[in-house]
Amino acid sequence: MSPTTIFVIGIIAAAVLASAGVFVVAARREPSAGPITGDLEEAARRGEAEARRAAEAGGGDTGTVATLVREDEDTAPDAEVVAAPDDLAPAPADAAPPPGPDPLLEREEISRAEYAATRRKFLNRAVLGLFGGAFLGGQALAYLAFLWPKLRGGFGTPINAGTLVDIRREISGEVIVPKFVAAAQAWIVPFDPTQLPGSSFEGLPVVAGGGGGEVGLMALWQRCVHLGCRVPECVPSQGFECPCHGSRYNFHGEYEAGPAPRNLDRFEVDVSETGDLIVNTGAIFQTARAKKKTIPYPQGPSCI
Ligand code: FES
Repeated sequence: MSPTTIFVIGIIAAAVLASAGVFVVAARREPSAGPITGDLEEAARRGEAEARRAAEAGGGDTGTVATLVREDEDTAPDAEVVAAPDDLAPAPADAAPPPGPDPLLEREEISRAEYAATRRKFLNRAVLGLFGGAFLGGQALAYLAFLWPKLRGGFGTPINAGTLVDIRREISGEVIVPKFVAAAQAWIVPFDPTQLPGSSFEGLPVVAGGGGGEVGLMALWQRCVHLGCRVPECVPSQGFECPCHGSRYNFHGEYEAGPAPRNLDRFEVDVSETGDLIVNTGAIFQTARAKKKTIPYPQGPSCI
């Protein structure tokens, strides 16, 4: 998956999360159609009870019990109003008939308490959604930054291993002494380009800087192709010998012995305009066990 694809997926995921947060807040801001529930402030409860008493005294039914519905009975004892004692005197026969129902009281209205509670809930949820969205967005960006491939200066990218002149001087002599480039996790070894035809590496861009009497260079991945142990060099035998299970390769990384299923893997190499060896650790080439070896092994005692 390309970096651009990962970035686009991350942006889409963040947008979906933000949209979901906004939708949840917007969907829940509608006031409840039923009775008021939840914790009400003491002043709000008192005001609600007084309003109910006034409504009852103004012509309501004197033989009924008005109850303010609330969530916690213990926290608002004065919200329950009982206005129907048994010994209440009956109304005189010639008293004026009670007024009819007040249309204002018949209308379904939102009390101050419900209004305050609804606004408070909305603000709470808006703040929660805002900070929740910011938190989730931050998490998404952090994961994206963690997964985002390093485009410069790390394994998986082109690594400058040094100048060809210096590397040749370092590794070539009476015996080969491979140069290890830690940033590329690679052993740099010499390779004569005239040996390419008929070898396991024919046609692959794995040799650079050869020709004109100069030896070419090859970059071998230090990782054993059996189970991934780091394979050290063995200068006495002129090969790489894995200490884990005994796989052996010559100094061109060609399979010689042990459980390894193929030659050592190698990287694409090139020469920069300034004469540096560039090891492209993002391009790895695998080759089958070499039938025709390009360098003898062992040339001395083994190291394992
Ligand atoms: S990991 Fe190298 S031989 Fe098994």
